[in-house]
Amino acid sequence: MSDALRLGIVGCGSIADPIAKLTRLTRGMRVTAYCDVNLECANRLATKYGGGAVFGNFIEMLEKEALDAIYLAVPHHLHYTMICEALEKGLPTLTEKPITRTLAEGIAVANISEEKGIPVGVNYQYRYDRGCYALAQHVWNGTLGRIFYARINLAWHREDAYFKHSAWHKSIAQAGGGTLITQASHLIDVVLWALGATPKFVYGQTAKNRFKDVEVEDTALGTITLEDGCMVQIASSMAATPEQAVTIELYGEKGTAIYSDKPRPYLRLIGVNAQRVAPPLVGVHALHRSIKGFRNWLLKDEPYLTPARASLPALAVVEAFYRSAESGMREWVETDY
Ligand SMILES: NC(=O)c1ccc[n+]([C@@H]2O[C@H](COP(=O)([O-])OP(=O)(O)OC[C@H]3O[C@@H](n4cnc5c(N)ncnc54)[C@H](O)[C@@H]3O)[C@@H](O)[C@H]2O)c1
Repeated sequence: MSDALRLGIVGCGSIADPIAKLTRLTRGMRVTAYCDVNLECANRLATKYGGGAVFGNFIEMLEKEALDAIYLAVPHHLHYTMICEALEKGLPTLTEKPITRTLAEGIAVANISEEKGIPVGVNYQYRYDRGCYALAQHVWNGTLGRIFYARINLAWHREDAYFKHSAWHKSIAQAGGGTLITQASHLIDVVLWALGATPKFVYGQTAKNRFKDVEVEDTALGTITLEDGCMVQIASSMAATPEQAVTIELYGEKGTAIYSDKPRPYLRLIGVNAQRVAPPLVGVHALHRSIKGFRNWLLKDEPYLTPARASLPALAVVEAFYRSAESGMREWVETDY
């Protein structure tokens, strides 16, 4: 390994830009290669962030470039094969969420990663968000007492341009779904992580109200029931105008916690007093802390907050939710992962 981890970015679209930027602020790690089937995108990012080798083909990059890790930011249906190819080369991977398009593929990735002892992290960066991290800590240290129910509200605004820029977002085969898997899965991940209880069953409904010629839902409303009886209500949409803050509310026997991501991420405790909780790493943004967490996992063997297997409960819930929306019935959540 060289003096700094050599990272190859694969998929140089929307999210890869801030990742490349924040990696420049991260000691012990640098982006040395950019790969995108659209070479213009790879070249643009390389030029913007200090240069590096540029590839239009992932396998070619794996064969020709000396790398220590991969950051994967491609459409969901490509995650599984590309993570497996990186693992085959012995390369740790930080993949964008969801780990894979399907739960079965996600379980396979977690198994291979653990069997080979090669880290695969999933960039559910809200775990590194100041307010979400504090929310989880206050559940774990008993500040709120037993949690009876929770509410997630994600009311985002997307225009037709969102689907024009990334046509894969329209397709169930490529994206796996719409607002639920792409956006709300961040918050489902945080709530399941904080509450710790296994999800049991889901009632879900989805709607395609806003966009034309788009297969995936723009709105998803439903509830998850956990094994301890706690209920989580989810409202997720990309049809809100104007966009609203993301909120998570937890209602416990001793008090209430309200998380909001705007104007800046914060957590408000109501009915209880508790010491402030700081996130585990310093950084300018949750994404930055997530990158640093991945770096520390590789260099110092410090635990990353979302290793592959830890990302599976959220994907299991998302799949059960879509089954429920299809069947109109309560659907059990897969727990064998
Ligand atoms: N963590 C977050 O907050 C966050 C935010 C946005 C997106 N994401 C995730 O990041 C991933 C990418 O999303 P995006 O919004 O950046 O999409 P995007 O469409 O903007 O970018 C995807 C890029 O992948 C490239 N690509 C497609 N096939 C490829 C291949 N075979 N080899 C190399 N490159 C290929 C495309 O040309 C495109 O440039 C998704 O998993 C998405 O859910 C995460």
